[in-house]
Amino acid sequence: MKLLFVNACVSQRGEHSRTKALADAFLETFCAGHPEAEIETVTPAALLALRPFDAEMVRERDALSGVGAFEAPLFDLARQFRGADRIVVAAPFWDLTFPSALRVYIEYICANGIAYHYDATGCHGDCRAEKLVYLTSGGDVERAESLGVLYWRQLAAMFGIGTFAHVFAGGLDLNPARTPALLEEAKTLARQAAEMF
Ligand SMILES: Cc1cc2nc3c(=O)[nH]c(=O)nc-3n(C[C@H](O)[C@H](O)[C@H](O)COP(=O)(O)O)c2cc1C
Repeated sequence: MKLLFVNACVSQRGEHSRTKALADAFLETFCAGHPEAEIETVTPAALLALRPFDAEMVRERDALSGVGAFEAPLFDLARQFRGADRIVVAAPFWDLTFPSALRVYIEYICANGIAYHYDATGCHGDCRAEKLVYLTSGGDVERAESLGVLYWRQLAAMFGIGTFAHVFAGGLDLNPARTPALLEEAKTLARQAAEMF
């Protein structure tokens, strides 16, 4: 069992990132229940080092996929994502979604011919994972149409990942006195989600 942890906790709080604390609570519980699990992590530094796709990179990707060269390094992240059994994505709520480094990562994993393919009937997901969880924390409370959550819900569907879950630790910047309790409540939800993951 391979779990891919996409750690997009780009945070001014460093190791004290609230989102990372949420992810740690989830991963500790998951690992306790799956001691055989192998965790692969995409770090914040690795995400921040990714170059956004420009026209030349799109041409290169099209040329590679045109000849079936899916082993090329340009597809490393897409192959890693496709091959994982479980996927955990953690990112703080920034500007109504998440840090742009995670958006750039999405450009890399959305590789037609690896993570999904099209035929005359439409898009078909080709990822191995059965479950993906999206963990986030925000200064404001969670809204029903929270864009980061919706984004990952739709990505999971496009990739053929049947079960999507999320935990949103909300309201963390509204009243500093309440922040620790709100984060603890969300960590409890994260642990519960991990038990069913
Ligand atoms: C650049 C930036 C953008 C943010 N945008 C939002 C936002 O759109 N909505 C919101 O509720 N909180 C926003 N916040 C607050 C964070 O989501 C909140 O403090 C979160 O708990 C940070 O998690 P962290 O400790 O993992 O960095 C933003 C914070 C930063 C630094």
